[in-house]
Amino acid sequence: MSSPDAPHTPCARYLRLTELLSLQHPRTGDTDSAQWADERFFITVHQSAEVLAGQAIADLHQAARGTDDGTTVGVVRRVGAILAVLEEHLAPLDQLDAERFARFRPLLEDASGGQSYQFAALFTRIETPHCAVRPPDAAVSGELAGAPAGLRAAVIRWRVRHLLLVERMIGDSPDTDGTEGLAYLRSLIVLPPRGQVS
Ligand code: HEM
Repeated sequence: MSSPDAPHTPCARYLRLTELLSLQHPRTGDTDSAQWADERFFITVHQSAEVLAGQAIADLHQAARGTDDGTTVGVVRRVGAILAVLEEHLAPLDQLDAERFARFRPLLEDASGGQSYQFAALFTRIETPHCAVRPPDAAVSGELAGAPAGLRAAVIRWRVRHLLLVERMIGDSPDTDGTEGLAYLRSLIVLPPRGQVS
């Protein structure tokens, strides 16, 4: 049980919890508490995914600046671990019925996860053909040599997981921003040549 002083603990100040926990604003009115709770759940899952994606981008920047292989390997492993969490992070949404999602979906208006500039930056960076984990002129060897393929495989796993979620939630209907939805998502899942999936 939290005390009335909880927002003022050193931990809460350090983590800026007051700001962080004040950002969940469902558009559902408070007269429909069940729908309000569903929408809050949806927003929370999205927001926390964005926080983790931001960390993965920061870590990739760090890796691309790094000169010490030992430290860089650790940072790149961290990005892989975050991508694995992001995939599993979609699991709670399996607990949201498609019909219940459909009730508040119009409130999203033209907002879509497909507009996430952070996910776009993260995936683009990982999918660039050149090594995303070292400065462009640095030699790559050992664990770092295999790291880009591992990260690319993690992006594919995220996309498959997301596709299954989207299929269950909205089927073949267009995305909220009017784009083609499932067909588009399927086209993004491009498997690497045999033997290159880790
Ligand atoms: C009810 C749950 C969800 C539905 C129905 C849904 C639906 C969709 C649809 C239809 C698209 C295709 C966009 C287009 O056609 O332009 C899309 C893309 C996308 N969504 Fe979701 N989404 C859901 C949950 C999430 C969550 C929790 C995230 C994580 C932040 C997310 C992130 C993305 C991203 C990054 C894309 C771009 C696709 C890619 O680069 O692979 N979505 N989503």
